[in-house]
Amino acid sequence: MATSKISLDEALASFTDQWSPRLVGRLNDYEVKVVKVEGEFVWHKHDETDELFIVLDGELTIDLRDGPVVLGPREMYVVPRGIEHRPRAERETSILLLEPAGVVNTGDAGGPLTAAVESLIDSPGQTRPSA
Ligand code: NI
Repeated sequence: MATSKISLDEALASFTDQWSPRLVGRLNDYEVKVVKVEGEFVWHKHDETDELFIVLDGELTIDLRDGPVVLGPREMYVVPRGIEHRPRAERETSILLLEPAGVVNTGDAGGPLTAAVESLIDSPGQTRPSA
């Protein structure tokens, strides 16, 4: 069955809250998510999975214990499993994330920034009808 294309610009325009990922696609057991970030997240790690960050707009710094990785638009970085990291951005930055379904955004750290993933699609590749 054919599915609809996804506009990342439209997906990003559909919400304003920060550090709250939106599901825009699924492939196998993985989820494709977009998220807007500003300020500092918490230090955390994911013992079970690597995590892909692609910057769509803005500038993302991923602090690692070895030092920061700074990403601009169309730059990407894979945080290896088990490696502590802290994303941060001085101004609002839009990111695309790819990681297995069910990964908790705050990893082992938990706390108030832990966010459920809200879906912008009903099934793989299909946009949710607007209310
Ligand atoms: Ni993470």
